[in-house]
Amino acid sequence: DPIHDFSWFSRPEVFDFEGISMIHYFTDNWENIQNFKARPDDILIATYPKAGTTWVSYVLDLLYFSKLGPERQNSLPIFLRVPFLDGAFPGLPTGVELADMLPTTPRLIKTHLPVQLVPKSFWEQNCRVIYTARNAKDNAVSYYHFNRMNMGQPDPGDWSTFLQTFMDGKTVFGPWYDHVCGYWEKKQTHSNIHYMFFEDMVEDTGREVERLCSFLGSSTSAEEKERITKATQFDAMKQNKMTNYSTVPVMDSKISPFMRKGKVGDWKNHFTVAQNEQFDEHYKQKMKSTTLQFRTEI
Ligand code: A3P
Repeated sequence: DPIHDFSWFSRPEVFDFEGISMIHYFTDNWENIQNFKARPDDILIATYPKAGTTWVSYVLDLLYFSKLGPERQNSLPIFLRVPFLDGAFPGLPTGVELADMLPTTPRLIKTHLPVQLVPKSFWEQNCRVIYTARNAKDNAVSYYHFNRMNMGQPDPGDWSTFLQTFMDGKTVFGPWYDHVCGYWEKKQTHSNIHYMFFEDMVEDTGREVERLCSFLGSSTSAEEKERITKATQFDAMKQNKMTNYSTVPVMDSKISPFMRKGKVGDWKNHFTVAQNEQFDEHYKQKMKSTTLQFRTEI
């Protein structure tokens, strides 16, 4: 399969950048990212990688733009509708360029940057920020499989190696712990942050769509919300070429599909008893001074 033959390709190196672990795809365009000019109606979709970014992006895209008709739905992959601000991939427009080219309002913009590195214009313009967090154990498992299948990410090594990298805060975009807590703290002073949980989305997508709409002050009808909830269920998004990333050559869904399981609690199939005990102990230390709480099962 020549499309997925990336044997010639070298995976990016991880290095320390502004205090977090990064790869060059997310730092090459740094000046332009930091100087990004947000507009007051921009909506920033922020997450730690693998927390449900694509899911929430698609919900928002449908909320605002399903009225534009089926052509957009059938021909424009989600990563072009909701540009990844941090990205600078060779041969493609940068995330900043894509955001600046968006013809639609509001602009939906995705970032994985920790809160302290979000371009300051988003705060100055008082933009709405939708942050989605996922429990650390499932987030780590999902990130492991993602790094296996995505040649644009560092090689994760085996599961125990990756888990240690995750606990050490050396995964790309830095420590999960600081990321989820950073936005949680920011929310105390910035009322325009809506903080969501992947687990709540899995438990009751309709309720979470409802909450999102009320945060956004959107007047979407009950039927429309119902339609969106359906269209964004795991199986629908897994089948949908515009949301399942199957069009991205650097991702090999034969190794692990982007839409992998979509579950809460898959960590139980990965953590050994010893890993789980170690993780819990370390987690307690890392999270001892926050009020933020996660569910690792529902
Ligand atoms: P898993 O690897 O656990 O399956 P992101 O979009 O931030 O990269 O997150 C990807 C994770 O969200 C993957 O988790 C993926 O399967 C899951 N996901 C995406 N869409 C989903 C949906 N509609 N329902 C449930 N999980 C979804």
